[in-house]
Amino acid sequence: MVGIFGCILKEGNAAPVVHEALKRLEYRGYDSAGEATIHEGKLYVKKDHGKIDDVHAQHNLDDLPGRIGLGHIRWATHGAPMQVNTHPHLDCRKEVAVVQNGIIENYAQIKGELEELGHIFKSKTDTEVIPHLIEEKLQKGLSFIEAARETLNRLEGSFAVAIVHVNDSNKILCAQKENSLAIGLSETAVYCSSDIPTFLPMTKETVLVENGELVILGDGDYEIRDFANWNQIVRPPKLIDWIPEVAEKEGFPYFMIKEIHAQPACLRSTIRLQEEYLDLMTAFLDRAKELFLVACGTSYHACLAASYMFSKMAFLSTHPVYASEFIEQVGKSVNIDSTILALSQSGETADTLAAVDYARSRAATILGLTNVVGSTLTRVSRVFICQQAGPEIGVAATKTFTAQLSVLAQIALKLAEKRGKVSHVEMEHFKAKLRQIPNIIEKIIQTQEEKVKQIAKKYRDKPYFLFFGRGISSAVTLESTLKLLETNQIPSLTYSGGEVDGDIINLVQPGYPAIFVCPKDDTHKKIAVDIAEVKARGASIVAIIEEGDEQIKSLADDYVEVMKDVPEFLSPIQCIIPLQLFAYYMAVGRGLDPDRPRHLTKAVTVK
Ligand code: AGP
Repeated sequence: MVGIFGCILKEGNAAPVVHEALKRLEYRGYDSAGEATIHEGKLYVKKDHGKIDDVHAQHNLDDLPGRIGLGHIRWATHGAPMQVNTHPHLDCRKEVAVVQNGIIENYAQIKGELEELGHIFKSKTDTEVIPHLIEEKLQKGLSFIEAARETLNRLEGSFAVAIVHVNDSNKILCAQKENSLAIGLSETAVYCSSDIPTFLPMTKETVLVENGELVILGDGDYEIRDFANWNQIVRPPKLIDWIPEVAEKEGFPYFMIKEIHAQPACLRSTIRLQEEYLDLMTAFLDRAKELFLVACGTSYHACLAASYMFSKMAFLSTHPVYASEFIEQVGKSVNIDSTILALSQSGETADTLAAVDYARSRAATILGLTNVVGSTLTRVSRVFICQQAGPEIGVAATKTFTAQLSVLAQIALKLAEKRGKVSHVEMEHFKAKLRQIPNIIEKIIQTQEEKVKQIAKKYRDKPYFLFFGRGISSAVTLESTLKLLETNQIPSLTYSGGEVDGDIINLVQPGYPAIFVCPKDDTHKKIAVDIAEVKARGASIVAIIEEGDEQIKSLADDYVEVMKDVPEFLSPIQCIIPLQLFAYYMAVGRGLDPDRPRHLTKAVTVK
C-alpha cells in the first residue's frame, strides 16, 4: 500500500501542503517519499528513500516552487526502496510527473515497447511506464488529457494515479481502477488523495472517485469521466463529518496508544449502527445456506469470534476461512447458495478481495464489513456495514478490531432475535450489556493500564510467550499473539487450553510467561485446570480474569481484571483490551516504534 496526493492551490506554494499531507498518509507506507511541483513551465522534483522526516531533513521538501503539486509515500512493490525508484516518476523530457498506488500488471510489455522506441527508464518500478507512455502519445499530437486517457486504457491491473504536465500547470489528472481515490474541494484549493483524512484538515467537502474514472482537477473545479468510453459523470461533493483531529495523535506518543484509548468513543459510535443496515445484513445471513467468514490477520480473528457468536446466539454455523486460503480450501464448493461475509477494516486487502472476486465469479452472495466506505469491498458487496470506527492510523489494528467485534455482536443479537433463539428477557439483558460496553472498556483502561505496563516491564526480555484460551477466547489469544508479533517481533504461540497437555507442554519452562484468558464462561472450569498444569511446570502465569475471580487469582503470578457479568458474546471486546496494552507497552519498553513495525504496512493491497 502506498499513498498518493495532489493539490492545486489558488495561491501560495503547494510543496508544504503536499509535505503535510504525506505525513498523514504515512500509515500507508514509509520507505520512500517524494514531491513534484510545476512552476513557470518547469517541473521540480525532490524524492528519496527513507521516512518522510528523514527525506525532508535531507532535502527540504518545502522549498519547491509552484502552486500545483503531487506527492507520494511509498511501500515498495516493484523495485527496492531507493531514490531512483521513488515516485514521482517522469518521462524522458521531464515534462510529465506521475504518482501511483497499485500494480500495473502489463508494465513489462509496455516498457519493452517503449524502450524499442528509444525511451530511457531510470527505475525498476511499474509506474514509470505511465509518464513515458503519455510522452509517446503527446509526441503523436494528442492533448495531455487524451494522452492520459489512452494510457489509462492501456494499463492492466489495479491502480490509483495522479498526473501533471508542465504545459497544463492548472490541471491534475487523477484516476483509479479497483483502488481508492478521493477528491477534496475547498475555497482555496482542490485536492486528490488515496484517502479522505489526508485533506480533512483543509476541507470536509469530498467526492469519491469510482472504479474506471478519470478526474480532471482544475482551478477550483473538477470533471469526472469514465476513461473507457468518456461519458461524463456528475457527482456532487458530500460533506464528511469526521473531525480532522481524529487523524492526529492528540497528545499521545503513538497512534497505537491513542487508538487503544479511543475505543470507548469508537464503540459508542459503532453500537449505534442503523437498524436498517443490521436488518438487511441479518436477512441475508439468515437465509444463507452456507456461510463463509473470510478475512486476513486481525479481521480473521474477528471472524473466529463471530463464528462462536453466531453459533451460540443464533444457532447459525459458519466456516471462518483465511482469505489467502479461501480459493484453495473451499473454492470449488462455492456456488450460488454460498454466502461470503468478508471482513476488512481497510476494505482493500488483496487476499480478501481476491477471495471475494472468486466467490462472485461463482455467483455467491457477498456481504462486507469494513471501516472504509468507498473502499473496494464496499463496491463489490451486495450489502455492507461500515464499522464506524473512524480512520485508524496505527499499523496494529486495535479500535477497528473491537469495532468489528461490536458490529458482529449486534448482528448475532439480531439474528438470534429473528430466529427466536433468545428469550425476551435475555435479549433485553444482552442489549443493555451491549450499551454498557463503551463504559466497561473505559473503566478497564482507567483501572488496569498501569498494571499492564508493570507486567510488560517484568516480562519484556522474555523471548517468547505462550497464550492459552478456550471457546470464544481463542480468538482473543490469537489476536494477542498477532499484536505481540507485529509490534515486538516476538514469536509467541497460541494454543487452545485443551491442547496444553499435547506437544505445547514441551515449551513450558520455569519463569517463562504463559498468558491465559479466563472469562467466567462455560470454559472457566477447564481453563483453571489448564493453568494448574502449566503452573506445575514452573511457568509464570499471567491471567486475564473477571473482577473478583479468586480461584484464578490464587493460581496466577500476575493478573489483570476485566469486568464481571459481561455476556460471553461480548467478552472478547473487553478481554482484548489489556492484551493490546500489553503489546504496546512491551514495544515501547523494548525501544520499538509500535506505529511502524518492521516490514509491515497498514493494509496489504498488493500480492
Ligand atoms: C493487524 O494488526 C494487522 N495490521 C493486519 O493483520 C490486518 O489485520 C490485516 O492485514 C487485514 O487488514 P484488513 O482488515 O484491512 O483487511
